[in-house]
This record gives sequence, structure tokens and C-alpha cells, in this order.
Amino acid sequence: MATDVDTPIVLPDDPGFGPEVQVDYPGYRSTRWRAPDRQLVSLPEEFHSLDGPVFGEDAVGELDHDLTRQHEGEPLGERIIVTGRLLDEDGRGIPNSLIEIWQANAGGRYRHEVDRHPAPLDPNFSGAGRCLTDAEGRWRFVTIKPGAYPWGNHENAWRPQHMHFSVFGRLFTQRLVTQMYFPGDPLLEFDPIAHAVRDPRARELMIARFDLDTTQPEWALAYRWDIVLGRLGPGTTPLENV
Ligand SMILES: [Fe+2]
Repeated sequence: MATDVDTPIVLPDDPGFGPEVQVDYPGYRSTRWRAPDRQLVSLPEEFHSLDGPVFGEDAVGELDHDLTRQHEGEPLGERIIVTGRLLDEDGRGIPNSLIEIWQANAGGRYRHEVDRHPAPLDPNFSGAGRCLTDAEGRWRFVTIKPGAYPWGNHENAWRPQHMHFSVFGRLFTQRLVTQMYFPGDPLLEFDPIAHAVRDPRARELMIARFDLDTTQPEWALAYRWDIVLGRLGPGTTPLENV
């Protein structure tokens, strides 16, 4: 059954978020082509306990988590530490799980051939990293605060500062690709990608908090962001575009 923005698809089995959760969003143009155009199919219950891919420690290099030390010199920009825990729906840490990130540099430019934003590339910044969670589900990255960038979705469209996250979890149903935002960003309220997550409580779950305790004096500020994997619902971190 075809659909369009006037007849949005509603996600099934959505106890807390209700029918306002949609997978396409008129303000975010490309969701029109990316969103499913048929009603979603509920997975059999047994899928929820199927193991997902597991990655060994040898897959991750010693400096993969530190985006400021992957080149000869240091990248330009505001050095930050970003930490958190990877949790399941019951608040238990998910150990030994791969987390990957990618982001723009401090000038708001990706090292990618389709990025034509006229901001400089930084020879000391690739903008990609990864790490494994520890036994308690904790993870940590050191990076540069990404810059805002224009994206052409509509007149004068700018993305808020954000980091992309790809999380594997341990189960088939725990796969998550989403974005982390920074507190107090004035662009957040104008961003259709963030607002494609309709519920303001769910949007809040994508915003890190400033973390003075993890800040390192004379060296770097810190942000804290916990990621909760599981079925869509109150408390779980939303997918981007949903
Ligand atoms: Fe981005």
C-alpha cells in the first residue's frame, strides 16, 4: 500500500509514544524517499532474543577512540571528552559492544567527497572513531566539538552540532544508528532531522549533558550521553529519522 506524507505510517507495538510516531517527516525532505511506503511488519517474538554480531577486542585499535591522536598533529577546535553507558531496557550495561562515530570537523566540514561546504578540511582530523564498551557498558571518546553546517534541505538550513553514532548492541533488536546533540544548541529547535523524532521527551534523549565531573582541568570539557537500546518506547534512545 503506497502512502505519502498525509497518510503516515504508524509504528506498531509502540506502548508509550502513540500514533504520533511516524517514519517520514514532511520538513525533512529525503525521508519521503527513505521511509518505508508499506505498513511495517512486526517481528516474531523470538527475534527479540536473537544474538547480533559480536566483535572481538582485536577489531579496535588503541587510538580508534581518540580522534585527536589519529594524525601527526592535533586537530583544530574545541577538544572534548564524550562518555556514557550503553544500557538495555532494564538499565543493565551492555558489555564488549562496538560503538562507531563519525562527525564533521570544527569548521563543520566532513572529509567526504560529497561534502561541498566551503569550510576548510583539517589535515589532522578524519572524523571517525570506534570503541568497545567495557564490562559495565561504559564507553569513551576524545574528539573535537563538531561545527554546525548548512545542508540544503530548505532555505538557510543548518544542522545543529552533532555526532553520528552506530551501535550494534548484543541482540538483533538492539541495532541503532542515531545522532547525539549538544545541550543549549540554538539550532536544535529549527532542525527537521531532530524534529523527525516527534515526541519532545524522546528528542531530549538524543541530547548529551555537560559533565563537569569528567571535564579535565586545563585540557578538555566533557559531555555525558547514555544510550538505551531496545524496542521503541519511553526511555530508549530514538533512531534518527523516526
Ligand atoms: Fe551529520
